[in-house]
Amino acid sequence: MAQPQVTLTSLAAQISDLTQQFTKFLGDNGIQQPSFAVDSPTSYSGLTSESFLLRQKLIDAINDMWILTQGPSESIFNYCHNTMPDQAALSMLNHFDFWSAVPLEGSASYEDIARHTKLPTEVVRRVLEHSTTLRLFTKSEKAFHVEHTSRSAALAKSSGLRALVSTLLDDAGPPLTVMNETLRRYCLGKTELTTEMSETALALFHSGGIFGGKYATSWDFIENDGEGPRKGWRQRTFVEFMRYIREMFHLESVILGSYDWKNAGAATVVDIGGSGGHDGVILAQKFPDLNIVVQDLPEAGVPFEKNTPAELKSRVSFMAHDFFNPQPVSADIYMLKLILHDWPDKESVRILQGLVPAMRPGSKVLFIDYVGKQSNPDDLPRSIQQMGTATDLRMLALFNAEERPVKAWKEIFRAADERFEITRVEANPLTFYVVIEAVWRG
Ligand SMILES: C[S@@+](CC[C@H](N)C(=O)[O-])C[C@H]1O[C@@H](n2cnc3c(N)ncnc32)[C@H](O)[C@@H]1O
Repeated sequence: MAQPQVTLTSLAAQISDLTQQFTKFLGDNGIQQPSFAVDSPTSYSGLTSESFLLRQKLIDAINDMWILTQGPSESIFNYCHNTMPDQAALSMLNHFDFWSAVPLEGSASYEDIARHTKLPTEVVRRVLEHSTTLRLFTKSEKAFHVEHTSRSAALAKSSGLRALVSTLLDDAGPPLTVMNETLRRYCLGKTELTTEMSETALALFHSGGIFGGKYATSWDFIENDGEGPRKGWRQRTFVEFMRYIREMFHLESVILGSYDWKNAGAATVVDIGGSGGHDGVILAQKFPDLNIVVQDLPEAGVPFEKNTPAELKSRVSFMAHDFFNPQPVSADIYMLKLILHDWPDKESVRILQGLVPAMRPGSKVLFIDYVGKQSNPDDLPRSIQQMGTATDLRMLALFNAEERPVKAWKEIFRAADERFEITRVEANPLTFYVVIEAVWRG
């Protein structure tokens, strides 16, 4: 494909033009612009799909400007030089909770933060010296003190954002660092990618037992890392991460629009891999006749019990169930949301087959998943493509799985059992979600 004929000057004009269009949209719609001040809005609320697209085009132009301003070689040097220390700084700030060590109003000294985080003052100083260059905290006028910026304050204010950093950097990040060795061992000289779960980057990374166990899958790790009361802390964080993802990407409307819930009446719904029940609770709140069983690995039951409103517990319950085992609950609807994209085809087929013993004629599978591979990716801004391509490489490292186009999901249903009849497929290119309804014709 021909390279874009851009220069610093043409990019600057493009950035100026797109910024004017974007800020006009914000102004016309009363949406406040963020700043670096602590009391800044933490995200844009109320973007339409058009304004979201406009913003992503602006991000693409700014990224091009970033590259050309440095020149090709230095842009690579700066990227390689900074990317891992940047990640490590954010991860340390988050893990040791620097966020609450600094008040939202005022400042904290390195010593105060050292006491709060239980880290040596030297480490605190060195981490902050780097992170302030990223506008995560800012140096105060008082010597050896820092204050919050809007970025660090966003983390102080949102448990969901903190969970996102923890899951993506601490849990899912390290396996990506051993991709080269994984490919060298299992793929070099072969024509096909291995799909064995024992040959993932995650399995190789944990084979050294650095976190105290040889974890076979990401879920094994998340569920079992930690001793005593700490066991399952990663799953509890993951539950909060999934709740936050729903909030950040406004997925409530995807769930509510995925089925004619009103006409489902007093249906029993099993939310398979339903995490801490955040989707089950929404459905139960909106549709008072539904009965919902949330199934997941045992540690997800802890946040479920804590977070589910008492008045809903007669209709929303938690059941520890491994979805590779036969489904024990006879239900009208089995919901699988964001489950199969974590698994290669063989395991995805097995998960669907686990449902077969419980299926009755007319019972349904409601499948909702992310479509990370669009049929026309080049029509989208690169910053949108990256959402899918980055998830895809993460899926490769963790599960030897891949982001799939809509067609591949249908094939997985077919391969699982011909008695699943697909009666509806809705793929919305603006939400990047696909909904498949399959009726059991056994
Ligand atoms: C990506 S999350 C999706 C959670 C939820 N459905 C949502 O959309 O927010 C995948 C879920 O599958 C669960 N899971 C993984 N392996 C499982 C297994 N063998 N049996 C049951 N649940 C499992 C995880 O604990 C996690 O909650």
